[in-house]
Amino acid sequence: GSVTVSGAPQKPASAKRRPGASPSGQTFPAGFQWGAATAAYQIEGAIDADGKSQSIWDMFVRKPNAIWRGHTGEMACDHYRRYREDVALMKQIGLKAYRFSLAWTRILPEGTGTVNAKGLDFYDRLVDELLAAGITPFCTLYHWDLPLALHQRGGWTKRESADWFAEYTTVAARRLGDRITYWMTLNEPQVFITLGYQAGRHAPGLLLPIKDVLQAGHHALLAHGKGVQALRANTRNAQIGFAPATPIAYPATEQPDDVAAARAFNFGIQGYGFLFNASVGLPLKNPFNNAWWMDPVFLGEYPAEGLALYKNDAPTIEADDLKVISTPVDFCGVNIYFGFKIQSDGRGGPKVVLPTPAAPLTAFDWPVTPEALRWGPKFFHERYKQPIYITENGLALRDWVALDGKVHDPQRIDFTTRYLRELRRAVEDGVPVRGYFHWSIMDNFEWAEGYKQRFGLVYVDYDTQVRTPKASAAWYARVIATNGAVL
Ligand code: NOJ
Repeated sequence: GSVTVSGAPQKPASAKRRPGASPSGQTFPAGFQWGAATAAYQIEGAIDADGKSQSIWDMFVRKPNAIWRGHTGEMACDHYRRYREDVALMKQIGLKAYRFSLAWTRILPEGTGTVNAKGLDFYDRLVDELLAAGITPFCTLYHWDLPLALHQRGGWTKRESADWFAEYTTVAARRLGDRITYWMTLNEPQVFITLGYQAGRHAPGLLLPIKDVLQAGHHALLAHGKGVQALRANTRNAQIGFAPATPIAYPATEQPDDVAAARAFNFGIQGYGFLFNASVGLPLKNPFNNAWWMDPVFLGEYPAEGLALYKNDAPTIEADDLKVISTPVDFCGVNIYFGFKIQSDGRGGPKVVLPTPAAPLTAFDWPVTPEALRWGPKFFHERYKQPIYITENGLALRDWVALDGKVHDPQRIDFTTRYLRELRRAVEDGVPVRGYFHWSIMDNFEWAEGYKQRFGLVYVDYDTQVRTPKASAAWYARVIATNGAVL
């Protein structure tokens, strides 16, 4: 039977043309680096091939209940063996650039000392394959897979870790520096230090007191600085940066007092420590924020607010450490997934505007906040005066292969359209944004979440290793081909 409804028949809301439904036709700057990103442990598999040693992640994934359903990166996307097919997919999408990381354990199995030629050969082949496909390599040296041998020597809690990293960087730069121009030292130090050494949720799974956590973080920053120096000494024309995790504070309106409040919160120490603490259960004094990790690199000092907050827990800093840490770099990379809306409290301070129940979430429960891609680059450029690369952005969905054999991911297309439009506004505001890397080119091992969270433009069937480009891959190809005009 038919359903009776009261009132006049209404046009469904979806039939109304929504503002912003059509593309602006505006392109991105000439030479914009349209890319996608991955990391070694998340895609390579082949965990003991050709002389590779164990990393802290190879160890951590075996810990009971550490990873969703006990998943491991043992096979991951089998990229170590299928890299040619994967580069062909990147070429098909038209990527201009590809961000990947080197596995330290393939190159120096003991962490220092003996070089494993076969491990280096893999990256040599990968880089050649990329260059032959017309794709510019962007290489991350450390994306969380510390050699287990170095962990047994104390890992990042030891000051020597900075020298171990410099040695590894030197080996990589000497072998690959003739073909790789773009380098990033560390990926998301606040994540691998906070989740790995304070919250026990990432490798190596430690629960250290804040003082030791901050000291380990200081060593990681020192490693960054020594890594920059090693890259400069062993390459010509390298473009160097790093890729911190940067949750963004963005203003509720464009009113100057809201913008000022958001800017202050974006670089505040309590700010994200607080919010992140609330949402993921980190200890109160956690160093999850932007300024603590970025000011030393770009400004040569720890933020005074942080030193005042941590007091005796602040790290021991030796003479010249901050000089080394702030060795000049060439760009500011930022991994941006979401932000928080901030309003002026009317007394010169910031107030968090909590999301309403209507606010959209990704499958990871991360908020959908496209404004982060406008205000983040703007704030970082204002403060650090560097060209900006979005070294990661994307979202997790519960994608699967439909009956028609395709993977339909309209939410990924919608999300990325919204974020890229905001990024274009940053460009229009005068921020020198040089590139955008979607996380990720393909579904992969999402750390403690295992294979649950699918971030790829390409779907991976982990049983068969069959790759299926999602609808978003074809869409991204058009974005790249038009330099953003379809957005
Ligand atoms: C942060 C990390 O760099 C990357 O490894 C991770 O998979 C994505 N963002 C998504 O969480």
